[in-house]
Amino acid sequence: MGAFETLIYEKEGTIGCVTLNRPQSLNAYNIQMRDDLSVVLRAVRDDDEVRVVLFKGAGEKAFCAGADLTEFLTAPPPVSARRIRFDRDVWGLFLSIPQPLIAVLHGYVLGSGIEMALCCDMRIASDDAHFGLPEVELGILPAAGGTQTLPRLVGQGKALEMLMSGRRINAQEAWESGLVNRVVPKSRLLEIAKKTAEKIASYDPDVMRCVKQAVRRGIDLSLTEGLDLEKRLAHQLLRSNGLNHEHT
Ligand code: COA
Repeated sequence: MGAFETLIYEKEGTIGCVTLNRPQSLNAYNIQMRDDLSVVLRAVRDDDEVRVVLFKGAGEKAFCAGADLTEFLTAPPPVSARRIRFDRDVWGLFLSIPQPLIAVLHGYVLGSGIEMALCCDMRIASDDAHFGLPEVELGILPAAGGTQTLPRLVGQGKALEMLMSGRRINAQEAWESGLVNRVVPKSRLLEIAKKTAEKIASYDPDVMRCVKQAVRRGIDLSLTEGLDLEKRLAHQLLRSNGLNHEHT
């Protein structure tokens, strides 16, 4: 994979690491980043060597301060700028990645930044992280899945409050509401995230993919359908391991 304008992609053994790399703009999400992410996500999806991927932000101040406002304020006008974004469904692609994804969050995690983190399977935050969905202040709707992914994680009440008020919450409140899995000291954020990734990468990758599929797809199914999905995945795993499944 070649170099990217807005991202760094590194692979260490079985662990991939994507760094949003526009620190001068607090890693704001622009059209180029959308294109770069599309390339990286496809490469990750098709690379069986990669067992888990970390997503982090470059610089001291932010994981990502949301959509790039300079693209909103210049030609093409905001509506066209948004339409261009919709043309490539990077968020659908994100959610279709079979491997476990971990968001490593520090500083500002706003707008598309939160939405990107919500496309990941786990979120580890440093104690300086701040979360918010400022779209309402700009007169737009979050369109990177946030209205759907956030309530699935934190419940309708908290999601509606964040989406309707635009209020920023700190790492402690994010943890209390289930938005992030862990809050750790900033100095240890990357080390702890890497350890978590190593642990996940040490397990059978097929099991990890099945766990992800069972939960991710199951959440949108009825309990009966979800149990059926779980059973099918369990049988599939046993078959691929050459075992029979009479005991299940
Ligand atoms: N798009 C484009 N550039 C952005 C940006 C964004 N979303 N967020 C920050 N930047 C740029 C700033 O313009 C500034 O650039 P400059 O140094 O050339 O002036 C640089 O990043 C640093 O940001 P700054 O505002 O100076 O940092 P701060 O610590 O004072 O404030 C924020 C940080 C996040 C509170 C503030 O930058 C902000 O409100 N950003 C916009 C958040 C937003 O509305 N995102 C859109 C969501 S849809």
